[in-house]
Amino acid sequence: MDSSSIIIRLLFFLLLLLHQTQSDQSSQYQTGGGGECDGRWIHIRKLPSRFNLDLLGGCSDYPIYKNFCPYISNHGLGPKTHNRSHSWYRTDPHMLELIFHRRVLEYPCLAVDPTRADAIYLPYYAGIDSLRFLYGPDVNSSAEHGLDLHHFLRSDAPQIWSRNNGHDHFLVMARASWDFSQPLSWDPPVWGTSFLELPEFYNVTALTLESRAWPWQEQALPYPTSFHPANLARLQSWLERARRARRTKLMMFAGGGGVSSSPNIRHSIRTECANATDVCEVVDCSKGVCEHDPIRYMRPMLRASFCLQPPGDTPTRRATFDGIVAGCIPVFFEEMSAKSQFGWHMAEEEYREFSVFIAKEEVVIKGVRIAEVLMGIPAAEVRRMKERVLDLVPKVTYRRHDSSVGLRRSTKDAFDLAVEGTIRRIKERLDGQLQQLI
Ligand SMILES: *[C@@H]1O[C@H](CO)[C@@H](O)[C@H](O)[C@H]1NC(C)=O
Ligand SMILES: *[C@@H]1O[C@H](CO)[C@@H](O)[C@H](O)[C@H]1NC(C)=O
Ligand SMILES: *[C@@H]1O[C@H](CO)[C@@H](O)[C@H](O)[C@H]1NC(C)=O
Ligand SMILES: *[C@@H]1O[C@H](CO)[C@@H](O)[C@H](O)[C@H]1NC(C)=O
Repeated sequence: MDSSSIIIRLLFFLLLLLHQTQSDQSSQYQTGGGGECDGRWIHIRKLPSRFNLDLLGGCSDYPIYKNFCPYISNHGLGPKTHNRSHSWYRTDPHMLELIFHRRVLEYPCLAVDPTRADAIYLPYYAGIDSLRFLYGPDVNSSAEHGLDLHHFLRSDAPQIWSRNNGHDHFLVMARASWDFSQPLSWDPPVWGTSFLELPEFYNVTALTLESRAWPWQEQALPYPTSFHPANLARLQSWLERARRARRTKLMMFAGGGGVSSSPNIRHSIRTECANATDVCEVVDCSKGVCEHDPIRYMRPMLRASFCLQPPGDTPTRRATFDGIVAGCIPVFFEEMSAKSQFGWHMAEEEYREFSVFIAKEEVVIKGVRIAEVLMGIPAAEVRRMKERVLDLVPKVTYRRHDSSVGLRRSTKDAFDLAVEGTIRRIKERLDGQLQQLI
């Protein structure tokens, strides 16, 4: 199937769904929602298609980035890993904007009337739109990213924005915040758009894949992995497989980098593993070969007790979540890699129960051997930690859209927790504002 036919199919399904949900929305609104929706109504802001669907048409326009047309399919989950796979997809994490949009459409508490909503969702594919600034013709006008959207929000039905000065609005930006936080004053531009630096958007909540050290607007969400179960049995059978997996290696690292001789944590890991192949496995993911090929790394992750999660170009990495899905205990080398990022999904105070922390300086400068630290952890403790990791799996996975009622009722997934967190945050903001007025 070529990319244009994928896009046409996708457009068709999305339009169909938009239509259906509009009618669901009105019926829910009329029945009043019972009470279980109190405090958690979401209104989906209607945006012109140039802010979302039209952008998908440019999926092959940025060859120096990549052609992401194949990963749009299945509402952003990407193609299945193979024809008979039920839960595994070649998911590109940057497609979270589409995945999230599709899930919002089936959110049970959608409000047609924005004045009754607790939060306003902007279905803007901000990360995809940013490509023209990051890699395309608009590289020299990166301060303009978002101005068109802001103009629309202030001119079309402006009362929706002004009711709370934008404080109740939120959107997904499926890249690291670093890609959106270039200071407006930087000339010539270095990297990134200035979306998160624009005063126009200071009040909006942005859900990103990685937040800055001192975030103001944003909250990081788990990177989507390739696992998207659609019913409880599939989730449980995977958890059982991960629980029973024979973990013959102490530790593993799946990733690229660290091959040059300059001292850094990835280099130290590679050196240590090259000398200790009995306890350590390296899956070489250089040149992005693992990106859409979960088979390459999921099996090795099932074989290892610990998965090493060193920072790369940025502190966080998708593999943290792949490893968790495999029941592989994460080993972090800096707090920014997860602990200070994903608080809505993995409580900061619980890190000691499901992960190991070894400061990267200890390894790179002081020569601490990672394998020795990990071998020092008693077997019973390792088993307990693995169970805690498995407890996290439902919370950090994005289940498939249209999944079974049983799965929806039994677990809160990454999307559910993201929405809860967003609504909580917006409420705190608005309450805080009220207090200031009083
Ligand atoms: C998957 O199914 C499609 C269409 O049914 C077929 O063209 C393709 O060859 C199949 N791929 C594999 C790997 O079996
Ligand atoms: C951006 O500006 C730089 C420096 O002025 C220039 O060399 C480059 O061609 C410009 N790029 C585009 C796409 O306009
Ligand atoms: C953001 O909120 C403050 C009040 O909390 C308001 O004064 C300001 O105008 C708002 N910004 C925008 C762009 O609406
Ligand atoms: C790896 O082995 C080589 C050769 O035996 C040795 O020189 C080197 O110090 C070892 N490196 C580490 C990190 O143990």
